[in-house]
Amino acid sequence: MEDALRVSCAGTVELNGEISPPGDKSVTIRALILGALADGRSVIKNPLNARDTRSALLAVQLLGAGIYEREREWAIIGGDLHSPPGALDLGNSGTALRLLTGALAARPDVEAILTGDASLRSRPLGRIVDPLREMGADIDYLENEGRAPVRVRGKRLGGFRYELPVPSAQVKSALLLAGLGADDTAEIIERTPSRDHTERMLPTFSVPLDIDEGDGRRVLKLEGGARPKAGEVTVPGDISAAFVWIVLGLLLSGEGLTIKGVGLNPTRLGALRVLNAAGVRVIVQQEGSHGHEPFGVITVHRSRLQGFQISPDEIPSLIDEIPLLALAAAQAEGVSVIEGAAELKLKESDRLRTTAETLAAFGADIELMDDGLRILGPQRLHPAAVECAGDHRIAILALACAVLAGGESEIRGFSSTGISYPGLVADARKLLSGAEFA
Ligand code: S3P
Repeated sequence: MEDALRVSCAGTVELNGEISPPGDKSVTIRALILGALADGRSVIKNPLNARDTRSALLAVQLLGAGIYEREREWAIIGGDLHSPPGALDLGNSGTALRLLTGALAARPDVEAILTGDASLRSRPLGRIVDPLREMGADIDYLENEGRAPVRVRGKRLGGFRYELPVPSAQVKSALLLAGLGADDTAEIIERTPSRDHTERMLPTFSVPLDIDEGDGRRVLKLEGGARPKAGEVTVPGDISAAFVWIVLGLLLSGEGLTIKGVGLNPTRLGALRVLNAAGVRVIVQQEGSHGHEPFGVITVHRSRLQGFQISPDEIPSLIDEIPLLALAAAQAEGVSVIEGAAELKLKESDRLRTTAETLAAFGADIELMDDGLRILGPQRLHPAAVECAGDHRIAILALACAVLAGGESEIRGFSSTGISYPGLVADARKLLSGAEFA
């Protein structure tokens, strides 16, 4: 099958209706790993069933966790892990690779090789391995220094104290999961907050975590010898998946859009804060919490956007939304600047460059800077044929550009959307009129 999506738009494209986005990728992967580490039978409701989460699922299964799948619910029997029969291939999932490296480093019952696809094998792992080694972990690079594949020989770690040099939830979470197998207290200090799903989920698995905030930093303290017990996690809808509809809902005509059951964790809402400051109509209503994760409804109406500035401190709370924020900027009045986003170069592609290239191909006026983007809007987009560098978030960006451009566009490498959002085209057909996808 040819891996391309053709988008054909005749006349005005409208966006209407309501949608429940797929389950959150970050929360699903954490629930799988904690479920595998915990004694007993855990349940994950509304998991994301996509390529990245299936890589994590297969890995924990090979480590000895029992998985029972039902429609929209996974049960996982954990606690009794062993060395897997072969290498654990985490595919494209940076979160699964990094969190499992941390978790396994502290499991004396396991020795494992962890690897992934070509993109994952080119992404930095030293940011996890260096601090883990400082704590006494036994991890070797098998091919290239600082990159997967790695061999982890699990052992009991001592206590540790570590201040994160980069605001990364993956690094923080890998260390917290290693702290579960430490003899003494693990203390992790964070200066710029990043997504806190792991912190919120630990109590669900009966692991107390002490969080001390003040002096512009958060100190996370995990007592040594914690033994996670089975828990139940209901996964909220993924705000990062929903964001494509939020941006299109702002830019296309129509009766408005309702997004239901979407996660509203404040550490994930930076992009909404930016849009609200840019004068748009995005209404957020919290309805409840699944465990410690708030969720609710977002409604969006077509709005005029002003150009906006994003500063380095805001980046972690909107890191995965930058490609679509750049598209919003290309349709906003005036100049927008995104700064301090060098981390984006280390994603599934060099996402700073691929965002700029994709938007430029559709006619946006965008300048690639050392650590950010400068965009002049509003610019009329035109159809294009683009290639998405195997990066799911770039493929999603390209779909949004194609719909806004009108006419006929082609997106090559579109199947990468299966990494985080397998139902994207089905949802596009449901919400958009005047656009066809083949
Ligand atoms: C993630 C954290 C982010 C994000 C990634 C998922 C997570 O990475 O970009 O898509 O689940 O912890 P960093 O924390 O490394 O920036």
